[in-house]
Amino acid sequence: MRRSHMTTQDAPTVISDLVVRMTTGFNPHDPELAHDGVPQQVYRELRDKCPVQWSDQYGGFWVATRHEDIDRVSKDAANFASALGILIPDPSDFATEDERKERFDSGKGMLPIVMYDPPAHTPMRRKLEPLFSPAMVRKREDFIRSVADDFIDDVIESGQCDLMVDFCAPVPAVVVLDWLGLPVEGWKAYSDTVLKQFAEPSEYGPDVGSLDIAGLYAALVDRKEHPRDDIITAITQIEIDDEPINDFEMLSLLGQMIFAGLDTTTNAVSSTLVELHRRPEVRKELSAAANDDRLWTSAIEEFLRYTCPIQGFKRTAREPAEVGGQAIAAGDRVLMMFASGNFDEREFDRPDEIDLRRTTNRHLTFGRGIHRCLGSHLARLEMKVMVQQILQRMPDYVIDESQLKVHEDISVAFGYDAVPAHFTPGRRRASSQ
Ligand code: HEM
Repeated sequence: MRRSHMTTQDAPTVISDLVVRMTTGFNPHDPELAHDGVPQQVYRELRDKCPVQWSDQYGGFWVATRHEDIDRVSKDAANFASALGILIPDPSDFATEDERKERFDSGKGMLPIVMYDPPAHTPMRRKLEPLFSPAMVRKREDFIRSVADDFIDDVIESGQCDLMVDFCAPVPAVVVLDWLGLPVEGWKAYSDTVLKQFAEPSEYGPDVGSLDIAGLYAALVDRKEHPRDDIITAITQIEIDDEPINDFEMLSLLGQMIFAGLDTTTNAVSSTLVELHRRPEVRKELSAAANDDRLWTSAIEEFLRYTCPIQGFKRTAREPAEVGGQAIAAGDRVLMMFASGNFDEREFDRPDEIDLRRTTNRHLTFGRGIHRCLGSHLARLEMKVMVQQILQRMPDYVIDESQLKVHEDISVAFGYDAVPAHFTPGRRRASSQ
């Protein structure tokens, strides 16, 4: 089980109050949920006592916490729509009744691709999927490793750093910007914006409009005139019904890639490093198996299952349905708690343990069905390379748990604001001196 910051003495009262509150009206924004180890205690109660629970919060919604039910809802895109948004509450809630009806009927939500339903979703996905394939991703391994090493070089001689600020945030930022075709020199501005939006989201979630929209638009205009072999160019070439998608759709898609690609991987890697700090025996086993690809593959899946940054996303029912024995009415919203499904004892043996060799691991960290994470192969490779480089170059790193700080609101993503660490100082690589 995850270690909590609360002592065993003070935990029961706090947790039991929270559990009662959550099992009678789940609120993903509750600040008391935002503590290390606490969400899993709440999710367990929900799974056992009310696996598809009605919450009166935010106008009312269902919360599904068992693996089987989440799997079922996320795979039924024909009935469980994304076009009215994926958060509770959601910016779509501000739309007029006519706008909401229009989005629901057309399947075109506010933000392509994640809030588009078929048929609008299909051509976007078809165009982008080959660019995110395992083969395309593999070509980036050396680059990712050199980016990871560059950031380690910046701190290695000092013997201390903030693993979040100095490593887990910058590396995915540089990798994803480069992948998309944006200048990597601007990584910090993008990274700071995205991480702030996830760490302190408004009640309606992170705001893609907080990015440098003019800069992104200029990149899109440039690629329309001068196509290159990059994701931005691919975005300018997407067509729906033989018509190019409009500028707003292109911009939203690009902005969403930046939001989806930065914070998630950052949180998955930093949480993995925290868990490895807490489990010296697991760290030792992984470090000793540097060249065992099979072990690393299952280990990364296990860390994805265990750390699951995205807690859950919402769908809206088009037609009446049944989920986990509960009747869902047309128009009802269902929040699928991926982070709960990943610890469901009905699906996983010993879910509270980190088992580097777990063989069957149908975790929900990347979602399921047609919206399954487009960047999953890239994220896996980033995670593997980043953890490998830390274990190799800072093998004895120790995290100062007293300074670990969880985001104030984990409704979108579980992650830390700061992960201060110290280690035996090492040398920069010869090439970087
Ligand atoms: C550990 C890292 C990551 C996690 C945990 C994660 C999680 C997710 C989840 C849960 C979904 C499903 C959304 C839904 O069902 O509504 C999703 C979709 C998506 N992700 Fe990721 N993601 C990660 C990394 C990335 C990266 C690196 C990129 C791109 C650079 C990316 C791009 C996307 C896109 C574009 C979608 C929407 C796909 C669609 O709607 O068809 N993600 N991600």
